[in-house]
Amino acid sequence: MSYLDASNMTGGYGRADILHGCTLTVERGQIAVIVGPNGAGKSTAMKAVFGMLPLRGGSVMLDGTDITAMSPQDRVKKGMGFVPQVNNVFPTMSVEENLEMGAFIRDDDFHDTMEQVYTLFPILKDKRHQNAGELSGGQRQQVAVGRALMTQPKLLMLDEPTAGVSPIVMDELFDRIIEVARTGISILMVEQNARQALEIADRGYVLVQGTNRYTDTGKALLADPEVRRTFLGG
Ligand SMILES: Nc1ncnc2c1ncn2[C@@H]1O[C@H](COP(=O)(O)OP(=O)(O)OP(=O)(O)O)[C@@H](O)[C@H]1O
Ligand SMILES: [Mg+2]
Repeated sequence: MSYLDASNMTGGYGRADILHGCTLTVERGQIAVIVGPNGAGKSTAMKAVFGMLPLRGGSVMLDGTDITAMSPQDRVKKGMGFVPQVNNVFPTMSVEENLEMGAFIRDDDFHDTMEQVYTLFPILKDKRHQNAGELSGGQRQQVAVGRALMTQPKLLMLDEPTAGVSPIVMDELFDRIIEVARTGISILMVEQNARQALEIADRGYVLVQGTNRYTDTGKALLADPEVRRTFLGG
């Protein structure tokens, strides 16, 4: 069984369904990438997996346990870490305070984890006393990812981690994400840089109007002429 198995999710905001039977699965230690046009429901699907959206249908299983009815906070305790698309750092708090906030759910000593985050993102150690709001876009995204890692998640969910950063910083972030996956953490990531993200994806999802349009390995999606023409700009 897949580590994450979110199957047939239907739901939305109020009475309007945005997701129509959307299915997302991630294997242990693998990278799954969701791409698709603006407004396709990618962020909504992430919120549904994280428990921020009541589902009218479908289920979310994590490591064989049905967590469909679980609160986001309990999902964090179960091993989920989520970096939302917007407002993912506390801008008036220092880098280190942001990481401490990430550990809010832990009552053990989290300083080893903080050192691991600093090893992954050395620049954050240099800037640990600076306010997150003063950092560059790429550095802020590192804070957001680092904050989510503070609970030692087994599934890390990232909604557009490379939004607004330069191609070099994007490559750098993708390398770090691959490094995280190699430690056995599963990654579920939404990306606007579809081509580059699918290159590192064990599995790719093209989401359109709240439904899976294409599901395959990243490589196969990149090679599919129809996917290329319609979603990857040729
Ligand atoms: N809080 C909300 N309340 C009501 N409707 C919402 C809300 N958030 C999103 N929507 C609507 O749900 C649909 C899907 O939005 P969503 O943000 O999931 O798309 P997306 O694929 O993440 O888009 P983008 O690529 O722009 O991030 C859109 O029509 C959007 O207007
Ligand atoms: Mg979105």
